[in-house]
Amino acid sequence: MALYALGDLHLSFQADKPMDAFGKVWKHHEQKIEKYVNQIVKPEDTLVLTGDHSWGRKLEECREDLAFIERLPGRKILLRGNHDMFWDAKKTNRLNEEYNGRLFFLQNNFTVYKDYALVGTKGYTFEGPFYLDRRGRVIGWDEEREAQAKKLVAREMERLRKSFQAAEKEGYRKYIMFLHYPPTNILEETSPFTEIAEEYGVDTVVYSHCHGERRFGDSIRGMFRGVNYMLVSGDYLNFQPALVMR
Ligand SMILES: [Fe+2]
Ligand SMILES: [Fe+2]
Repeated sequence: MALYALGDLHLSFQADKPMDAFGKVWKHHEQKIEKYVNQIVKPEDTLVLTGDHSWGRKLEECREDLAFIERLPGRKILLRGNHDMFWDAKKTNRLNEEYNGRLFFLQNNFTVYKDYALVGTKGYTFEGPFYLDRRGRVIGWDEEREAQAKKLVAREMERLRKSFQAAEKEGYRKYIMFLHYPPTNILEETSPFTEIAEEYGVDTVVYSHCHGERRFGDSIRGMFRGVNYMLVSGDYLNFQPALVMR
């Protein structure tokens, strides 16, 4: 039995959104996903998909993408990404009812792997615009957007805390935390997300959203203040699910 994670499948079986334009790694990426997940993940395993599942703008435009995910081996747990327009945060229960026993949508709730609670939310990070000098050093940023980002971070923190509290109430004391956005932006060393991970003694924080060589180093990877951080963006892993825990 093992726990795996992979993010940003960006499927488009019903939407006209070829991903080839984003680089070689995206060529026929859905075939790579199918191949590698089937090679690596066993039926008794758990696979957390950390958001940006589908380019469809509403649920009916995502059915084939979700069916593709359903056909992958293992128990599938989905997190909300910034592109998942089909997933209204207030209607997560409805998705869980509809896909009961097939897919689990992680939002304001939690699920379990061994004696660990799997908690999570989309998260948020301020992504600029940043103003750079000639050497590429940040010398300023859009303050209005930064203020807006702070509000979104606060809202996501509320959702994440609900997820932790629900697990805590059921007696769980060990946690793995999932985010779609990286836990910190390029200006930060810590954030409310790293703080809550430390507060609850989280074992591992798993996130994705960062695409392309230049962005893979945007946030924390590896051990930091007692917490392990893992980036699992599909293109970072060449679409091979990463082992979080055995
Ligand atoms: Fe993405
Ligand atoms: Fe994203």
